Amino acid sequence: MSTRVAAVSAPPAGTARTEAPPCAMVIFGASGDLTRRKLVPALYNLARGGLLPENFAALGFARRPWSDAAFREEMGRGVAEFSRLAPLDRACWERFGPQLEYAEGEFADPAAYARLAERLADLDQARGLAGNRLFYLAVPPTEFPTILHRLKAAGLIHPPDGGPWSRAIVEKPFGRDLESARALNALLARVLHESQTFRIDHYLGKETVQNILVFRFANSIFEPLWNRNYVEYVEICAAETIGVGTRGKFYEQTGVLRDLVQSHMLEVLSLTAMEPPTTGEADDIRSEKLKVLHALRVPWEDTMARDLVLGQYRGYRAEPDVAPDSVTPTYAALRVFVDNWRWQGVPFYLRTGKKLAKRVTEISLTMRPIPLCLFGRADVCDRIVPNVLTLRIQPDEGIALRFASKVPGLDLKVGTVAMDMSYRETFGGEPPEAYERLLLDAMRGDATLFSRRDAVEAAWAWITPILDFIERQPPGEFPNYEPGSWGPERALELMRRDRRAWREL
Ligand SMILES: NC(=O)c1ccc[n+]([C@@H]2O[C@H](COP(=O)([O-])OP(=O)(O)OC[C@H]3O[C@@H](n4cnc5c(N)ncnc54)[C@H](OP(=O)(O)O)[C@@H]3O)[C@@H](O)[C@H]2O)c1
Repeated sequence: MSTRVAAVSAPPAGTARTEAPPCAMVIFGASGDLTRRKLVPALYNLARGGLLPENFAALGFARRPWSDAAFREEMGRGVAEFSRLAPLDRACWERFGPQLEYAEGEFADPAAYARLAERLADLDQARGLAGNRLFYLAVPPTEFPTILHRLKAAGLIHPPDGGPWSRAIVEKPFGRDLESARALNALLARVLHESQTFRIDHYLGKETVQNILVFRFANSIFEPLWNRNYVEYVEICAAETIGVGTRGKFYEQTGVLRDLVQSHMLEVLSLTAMEPPTTGEADDIRSEKLKVLHALRVPWEDTMARDLVLGQYRGYRAEPDVAPDSVTPTYAALRVFVDNWRWQGVPFYLRTGKKLAKRVTEISLTMRPIPLCLFGRADVCDRIVPNVLTLRIQPDEGIALRFASKVPGLDLKVGTVAMDMSYRETFGGEPPEAYERLLLDAMRGDATLFSRRDAVEAAWAWITPILDFIERQPPGEFPNYEPGSWGPERALELMRRDRRAWREL
């Protein structure tokens, strides 16, 4: 049973807080997949919403010998295929297309950066860009050192002194263990101040991830319940139905723990478990999230075997670029604890994997059972189940509260109902794509939704012992779950041991 709720009062969706200032966005790796599929469609969507600064240029940089016209044509096809606002709006494209430019160059070639500097100076003059620069490194991290050093040597990075600004957005992965994350951060810090460094994890740009903060801190009724006194346990699930597809090479190096647990799952856990920040400023929010990571109980070897279940779907080893005897996990279920005053003793169960039964990402808080059943009848009392509050992140974004209700009739019967708020039904339309929000925030200098250096390192510090443990004792029983299932049998055991079951999704 489900009870729908409607918006009582809501401002128009997507209202901008502040205008983005004039700037040039330089995209390194502009002939790549990310630019065509995500970045330029996001810029176009911003242009359609009137959110791109009028004085703006996106300058693509890659090896391919494209002209400006060829770049625009290629990006036009990308927008037509991938923009959420299809079909292409000709009038908007006529305005936006000419804001795209292209510079051919090799990342390691100093002359290419001298040409880039001239080009940017010309664009500043011609389009009034005020010298502001947003560098987007849509390239593998191995290319970061070359690009950053060349940018600095060419005088293209302004100091963060209040004059024209330079910022750089860097793509995941931010390292593959604690040591490499530290090395990458040290490299970034040699060229950029932390306030100029925007580590992007598109997950944080999702509307519903941002809504975790609004839901928790713009409502007074939930926060008093949001602790060990009322919450029995928390589940965070990020399930995918797809396999690795053509990304076998990347996935073999990464696996589920690096790809999803270290980043998205810990981000969502931090937002769910954090204390209210002192203000809504980026650094106050990020500092509270960091404290959660510091409070995560470090898994010890003897508990690891009990609290961690890994899986690999049948057929993974036959995917392109995957080793026939691969021990890379595609599934993980974990029981973790946040050792602080608020959450002491409350298990957080995380599960994520590929080729699972359903594509769904959600957080659910199962509340403590009632202390005493007053109805004196087993058939009634047995039907009373604990309240569950669910924040659905994707798909069908929304929030649901499960509670008990009397079923109408002369006899006493208890049923379980849900109050269910669907984003789509309540607000209508498609929410902006994560990249739209994040690109706009980077132009405005708002780093709230970007990962800070200390948090990235804290997340790696927590997960690296798990990665080391697996390296020493590679899982022997792979493959151990069927595509389309809910993962390995042992994952059910992880919950059963605590006399619980994973939520049915
Ligand atoms: N694709 C996604 O959906 C996605 C999502 C999240 C994160 N990421 C991350 O984003 C980054 C980029 O991904 P991608 O999928 O766009 O990669 P990609 O398709 O392989 O593109 C790489 C780009 O880098 C350019 N390039 C490589 N070496 C170069 C060099 N020495 N000099 C000049 N240009 C060079 C290539 O230019 P030419 O082809 O012209 O040589 C191409 O434009 C990766 O770190 C990836 O992990 C991607």
